[in-house]
Amino acid sequence: MVEASSHLIDGLIGDGPAMQQVYTITRRAAPSHATVLLTGETGTGKELIARALHELSPRATGPFVRVNCGALSESLLESELFGHIKGAFTSAHTSRTGRFEAAHGGTIFLDEINSVSYQLQVKLLRVLQEHEFERVGDTRTIQVDCRVIAATNVDLVNEIRDGRFREDLYYRLNVIPINLPPLRERPEDIDKLVNFFVERSATPDGAPARPFTRAALDVLRSYHWPGNVRELQNYVERAQVLSTRPSIDVDDLPDHVRGVPSPGPVRPATGTLESLCTELVSRTIAELGLEAGDLYAGVVSRVEREVILQVLRHCQGVQTRTAARLGINRNTLHKKIEEHGLHEEAR
Ligand SMILES: Nc1ncnc2c1ncn2[C@@H]1O[C@H](COP(=O)(O)OP(=O)(O)OP(=O)(O)O)[C@@H](O)[C@H]1O
Ligand SMILES: [Mg+2]
Repeated sequence: MVEASSHLIDGLIGDGPAMQQVYTITRRAAPSHATVLLTGETGTGKELIARALHELSPRATGPFVRVNCGALSESLLESELFGHIKGAFTSAHTSRTGRFEAAHGGTIFLDEINSVSYQLQVKLLRVLQEHEFERVGDTRTIQVDCRVIAATNVDLVNEIRDGRFREDLYYRLNVIPINLPPLRERPEDIDKLVNFFVERSATPDGAPARPFTRAALDVLRSYHWPGNVRELQNYVERAQVLSTRPSIDVDDLPDHVRGVPSPGPVRPATGTLESLCTELVSRTIAELGLEAGDLYAGVVSRVEREVILQVLRHCQGVQTRTAARLGINRNTLHKKIEEHGLHEEAR
């Protein structure tokens, strides 16, 4: 990892006023035990800040445990977080400690906190308030000492309004809010980010890294970056690999970044299924880039994973029922479950 100068934070690039403010709050918040809520669009660096908060804290020698709350069903997430005892449910053949216990003396990072079910939010509230919980199926109360950091790229205030997120939990989490600004609001950081990713993605065959021309950087500064830093990183790495020129010029950038008009989607009314679909496709294109060469697979794979996940959950993980509802055969379902890493959802 490139060393950053001392007023910055290691591994985080960008020193414009917006990011300076983020670093200042991060440094102030790090030594305390207070809960931090990280907000910001996808790809803005929430996970990097979560790790920095841990590294800069007196708990740095303790564990940093990340739990992606969006990746597990309600019951799996509950036993993942709190652990379970043998026999707590049918497949609980042995006892297991949860992630809160694993984070004792360190930090637990609850990523995609907005995905936690309303029921489980009550249990989380208790851990935040009382620092205690029980393993699933157990009566013994366990005390933990861990610092909680949560992240969301969904606006929790809207979630509260729509009845999906508990207001009391929100206030418990939002003790120190840190908002990561979108990249389009800090174009002044783009040159440095590009240089950083150019250095980092220097071609493995030893060829010298290809710098970006002034003109290419100008184009990048005026693009709207729906995928933020992650999207920028993709384009830089791709250009390093694909371009045959000594430097990366405007022509090496994806059409939509250069502002070359594409037939682009006609936007349907917001909130409709069509508009959600348009959004899914546009964001996948933004993330992978129009030249990716696997856009069809990229979009289809996301939809496929989501439909399998949701129907599996409806069917409590029973594969025969899930296959019947999806209208695909069991072997295909089995393969898809493996392919999408959904085996924990299935029985
Ligand atoms: N300021 C930065 N400096 C260097 N790299 C960055 C910066 N911000 C983000 N990145 C890189 O961009 C990618 C996305 O960052 P990260 O995973 O922290 O985003 P996120 O906000 O957690 O996104 P999501 O909501 O999609 O999970 C990572 O590869 C990360 O290393
Ligand atoms: Mg993240």
